[in-house]
Amino acid sequence: MMHSDIDKILYDRNTIAKRVTSLGQEIARDLEAATDHSDEIILVPILTGSIVFLADLIRHLPQKLRIGLISVRSYHGRSTTSKDLSLRSDIPPSLGGKHVIIIDDILDTGKTLNTVSSIIKEQNPASLRTCVLMRKIIKDRPLLEADYIGFDIPDEFVVGYGLDYDDYYRNLPDIATLRPDAL
Ligand code: XMP
Repeated sequence: MMHSDIDKILYDRNTIAKRVTSLGQEIARDLEAATDHSDEIILVPILTGSIVFLADLIRHLPQKLRIGLISVRSYHGRSTTSKDLSLRSDIPPSLGGKHVIIIDDILDTGKTLNTVSSIIKEQNPASLRTCVLMRKIIKDRPLLEADYIGFDIPDEFVVGYGLDYDDYYRNLPDIATLRPDAL
């Protein structure tokens, strides 16, 4: 059973649900203030780690919006350190003039968000914001700061609530660290 691989739970499902609710409400208020009815809003989630977060977050956004999924890979297979980033899908075209929010699971070095933001900026969106479920506290500042952050976490490898190790544990409802022998 996957639960026997868990070392400790950092955030349980209730804590996550409360934080995602307030994050969603904050984003909804900001969108309400920054857009009017004719404006186009598009969320750009980075696969695969952000899917559970996205599913919960969007249900707190009452605005009319679209979703344009993108896929990048910075961890390959069983590695837990950042490797070269590769874009595995096209950035949705025609983001020009739209209000874009990039959604990711974790902000670590910032390489992922920075790469995706620069590509999107070339399309001249009306506004571009970034939202991450977690930010890792590392000694160097990330290449790019996120506008919305769910939790600040220590520099440990975490799984659950969409996050994986070797593509496993995404279905764990809590955010947890793994026992060293499971890595
Ligand atoms: P960078 O360094 O580009 O890293 O900011 C962010 C990306 O790396 C992944 N990441 C993790 N994935 N557990 C994971 O499952 C972790 O502890 C972790 N730390 C970083 C994440 O996918 C994010 O997009």
